[in-house]
Amino acid sequence: MSIKTVIMTGGTAGFGAVAAKRIFNTPNTKLILGARDNKNPSIETLPLDLARLSNVRSFVQSLTKNLNGTKIDSLIMNAGAQFGNTKHRTGDGFESTFAINHLAHYLLLRLLTPSLAKNATIVITTSDVHDSKMVPFGPKELDPETLAHPRDKSKGFGPGIRAYASSKLCNLLTARAFENSTDAQMNGMRVIAYNPGLTPGTSLFRAWPWWAKLMMAVASKLRPVNTIEQAGNAIADLGLRTIVPPSGRIYASLVKGKLTWPDPSELAQSDTAMRGLWVESAHMVGLPGQA
Ligand SMILES: NC(=O)c1ccc[n+]([C@@H]2O[C@H](COP(=O)([O-])OP(=O)(O)OC[C@H]3O[C@@H](n4cnc5c(N)ncnc54)[C@H](OP(=O)(O)O)[C@@H]3O)[C@@H](O)[C@H]2O)c1
Repeated sequence: MSIKTVIMTGGTAGFGAVAAKRIFNTPNTKLILGARDNKNPSIETLPLDLARLSNVRSFVQSLTKNLNGTKIDSLIMNAGAQFGNTKHRTGDGFESTFAINHLAHYLLLRLLTPSLAKNATIVITTSDVHDSKMVPFGPKELDPETLAHPRDKSKGFGPGIRAYASSKLCNLLTARAFENSTDAQMNGMRVIAYNPGLTPGTSLFRAWPWWAKLMMAVASKLRPVNTIEQAGNAIADLGLRTIVPPSGRIYASLVKGKLTWPDPSELAQSDTAMRGLWVESAHMVGLPGQA
């Protein structure tokens, strides 16, 4: 009986914790989380703080040792953070939203590529806020260098939420770039950018000011939302391959608890933005730029 190996970030809170529990309880499946804290002692967890690139590298080292040659069948990159401003910098000097949500996961994907099984599934959690047609603060252009090093350390909520939306565009473009890579193409890998849709009740919004939380509570009444269970089960289904994308679709969007497969935003479909982000991210983490 072959055992499926699943590696996941963002499995300790929010809907990721629901997904992790479900994956952990799936027969013939080995789950290893990368996380800052081991919140569920029954799930194997290796230390990973995405706010430090050196920590991503040491996580990969200990994971590789732990796997001892076993290949990864599913890599789920779900961790994410919002800061409500752009004043935070990581120890590496990058704006924290961009660094945690995008750059650290980009490095993780690059370093784990040799450990991915043939036909592996890669899931990266994005958001529909990557699309400026969905929300007014969605990105209309992409300049990775400005996202990495914004000129002003703004305390304002507007720049913070825009930084978050841009980081989610980066997640989508990374998914597309990896799907187009020789590694993914030659090995039949399946890449999914997952949008859980608005999912209230997670800790994602903890840094928001009170008035923004109030606006979200109102928005939750006006537009369709998903429950933590629905969002967690959908990402688990994608990671476990109990749901597979229709041919040629990469963007999975959860609407009223059901997975749909729409086109991502125009900017997310831009090959120029996709290649530019891949190459600039490679420079930022000190890796060669070819996809
Ligand atoms: N909720 C929504 O409405 C919504 C909508 C669209 C997209 N999303 C995306 O869905 C994903 C999960 O969000 P959620 O709503 O479930 O949020 P959440 O409850 O705040 O969970 C976030 C997860 O990311 C982990 N994380 C954050 N910073 C980290 C770091 N520096 N190093 C390692 N792990 C870190 C957290 O770990 P700790 O337990 O250590 O904090 C936690 O497991 C995120 O990528 C988010 O952008 C959420």
